[in-house]
Amino acid sequence: MSGVAVLLTGLSGAGKSTITDALVAELEAGGTPVTVLDGDVVRTHLSSELGFSRADRDLNIRRIGWVAGEVVKHGGTAVIAAIAPFEEAREQARALVEAHGRFVLVHLSTPLEVCEARDVKGLYAKARAGEIPTFTGVSDPYEEPVRAELRIDTSVVPLPEAVAQVRAAMAGVGDSTP
Ligand code: ADX
Repeated sequence: MSGVAVLLTGLSGAGKSTITDALVAELEAGGTPVTVLDGDVVRTHLSSELGFSRADRDLNIRRIGWVAGEVVKHGGTAVIAAIAPFEEAREQARALVEAHGRFVLVHLSTPLEVCEARDVKGLYAKARAGEIPTFTGVSDPYEEPVRAELRIDTSVVPLPEAVAQVRAAMAGVGDSTP
């Protein structure tokens, strides 16, 4: 069986961690072990010295892509949850994974207004107050993915449906390749 890596990309508060948690719980309940690469966690270990400049964000995503490639190489499953705001770095991560298996880019397109209203971590309020510089969606760009395999707006798609859509994309439903 070939491996697969899923990259959930989107603004802070778009639903990346929520979908990841539910997705991973389902996969593991079904006997599929998963390597989870969550931006916040990666930044406490693998990327602890990095900040939020474009260069640092891009390096963070390339590192994540490399690790995901190593997992996929051995037939494993990796689920990545990261803002990953820049197209070029996302495509570099794709290339690192596709050298060994399948890559599924999922764009969580939840509108900024909804993410900001949720403000789960209180970071948007701080960013608007100027306390966090270069905050994605407020004072730093988010480049919409050009070639996402799947796009989900979590303000309209319920969580179980979102998870089912990601699982279908992972399974290659709709693909012509066997
Ligand atoms: S990425 O841009 O490099 O992909 P990543 O997903 O690892 O970002 O980390 C994003 C998390 O860092 C956010 O969920 C938030 O908690 C925190 N964070 C701190 N500062 C910023 C910032 N300036 N922009 C975005 N997220 C930030």
